[in-house]
Amino acid sequence: MLIVLALSYLAASICFIVGIKWMNHPATARTGNRLSALGMTLAVVITMLNLAVAQQDLVKDASVLWSPQTRWALVLGGLVLGTVIGGVMAKTVKMTDMPQAVAIFNGLGGGAAAAVSVAGKVAPTPGAHGEEMLWSIVLGTIIGSITFAGSLIAFGKLQGLISGKPVTFPGMRLFNNLLILVTLGLGVWVMVLGHDPIGDKVFILTLVLANLFGIMLVLPIGGADMPVVISLLNSFTGTAAAITGFVLQNNVLIIAGALVGASGFILTMLMCKAMNRNLWNVMFVDFGGGGGSAGTIEGSQQETSAEDVAVMLAYASRVIIVPGYGLAVAQAQHAVQEMAVLLEKRGVSVKYAIHPVAGRMPGHMNVLLAEANVPYSLLYDMEDINSEFEQADVALVIGANDVTNPAARTDTSSPIYGMPILDVDKAKNIVVVKRGKGTGYAGIENLLYYNPKCKMLFADAKAAVSSLIAEVQHV
Ligand code: TAP
Repeated sequence: MLIVLALSYLAASICFIVGIKWMNHPATARTGNRLSALGMTLAVVITMLNLAVAQQDLVKDASVLWSPQTRWALVLGGLVLGTVIGGVMAKTVKMTDMPQAVAIFNGLGGGAAAAVSVAGKVAPTPGAHGEEMLWSIVLGTIIGSITFAGSLIAFGKLQGLISGKPVTFPGMRLFNNLLILVTLGLGVWVMVLGHDPIGDKVFILTLVLANLFGIMLVLPIGGADMPVVISLLNSFTGTAAAITGFVLQNNVLIIAGALVGASGFILTMLMCKAMNRNLWNVMFVDFGGGGGSAGTIEGSQQETSAEDVAVMLAYASRVIIVPGYGLAVAQAQHAVQEMAVLLEKRGVSVKYAIHPVAGRMPGHMNVLLAEANVPYSLLYDMEDINSEFEQADVALVIGANDVTNPAARTDTSSPIYGMPILDVDKAKNIVVVKRGKGTGYAGIENLLYYNPKCKMLFADAKAAVSSLIAEVQHV
């Protein structure tokens, strides 16, 4: 059985690694996802078979509490329940609610890791968790608990159950720093004390303080920093799972957890770079995000009509479409694709400019446009398209705001100062489609809208693009 187990886990791990590699590109992402799911199915099935074999030994062990039937009922019950809930959530969650969904999945992953570690401490399986495993039990408990509690707070903030604004009090930074030091110190003490009654009490205190730290870590964070925190918590989930792999002596869990931990951390760093934020500042120094200076604004916004924009688009040579969160809210991706095809038929070159943090989750715009069968070859990353705005006849901004705000370049007091933006203001003509004068995620005014070259088409993105399609057909 051992050799079958090892080879199956190896095959599952290869599926995960190749799957992640394939997820790197939109053309292979779906296959990568399926391959990873296949790897996970293999890992679950082989773990169950291994459990069946192990049960035969446990039956002979008088210290084991539950009968094999009860154990199987619990495992299978959990499997069915988890599959049904996960499947329904994946099918029904709106794409704009994905950050909340990721937050709750992170929380459950961290909570599961903490639960396994706690079980390893309070009810060690005979022979499996000697003193030498205490480090993984303690670390799994601390990281899993921080992830669990922090993710629940993140979910509550994003879902609007608690205030999305930073929640702080004087001296909170110092309090948090002390809290984590005390928690880690207690964790070390548990390892020194080992499996004894005082060690058990200190362990419970460590568990409580780790959960408290998770709450205190996320409460003061708000605004545009939330996605960075979600991604970091995702990385914590993977790390906690990998450590739990040591507690359970399960190689595939160690590998899968390490992959999630590392990829989550890389994503966190990429997001920080894309928003010009420093991870240390996000977590421990600049509590906040969201709201802030509007900068000095001169001039006024000029309104336009679908008729005028249609003429501009129909006679343009080069059009760059800049999608943003509003396009996702309006579900205007299919209409945008239809309009682009119409323009291309007229000989207009149409490209899409994708900002790394446009929308509300990494890759949001890529996924949205792929859903509408926009060819991947027309999607350009910010660094590849920025030099082309100067030659563009029209930059058509649809439901994007912060990622086009020139204040990020010029206004040192702006909360988004330093964030790389799409150079929309360099285009010959700019058209912005949005419903009204609402601000974007950062809660600040956009200097672009006061640029003399910029015209505002105030409407829901889907309705606006549908009118543009109708008007272009008559030009
Ligand atoms: P935002 O700056 O959030 O702006 C979206 C704009 O869409 C708003 O100004 C809104 O104006 C408009 N809008 C909303 N519903 C609309 C509809 N139905 N039709 C037309 N327009 C609509 O979007 P963005 O430019 O994509 O920037 C993303 C922001 O979110 C950044 O600040 C980023 O840091 C942050 N963020 C990113 C992520 C990731 S990882 N992508 C995650 C969380 C947060 P009106 O209300 O006037 O219509």
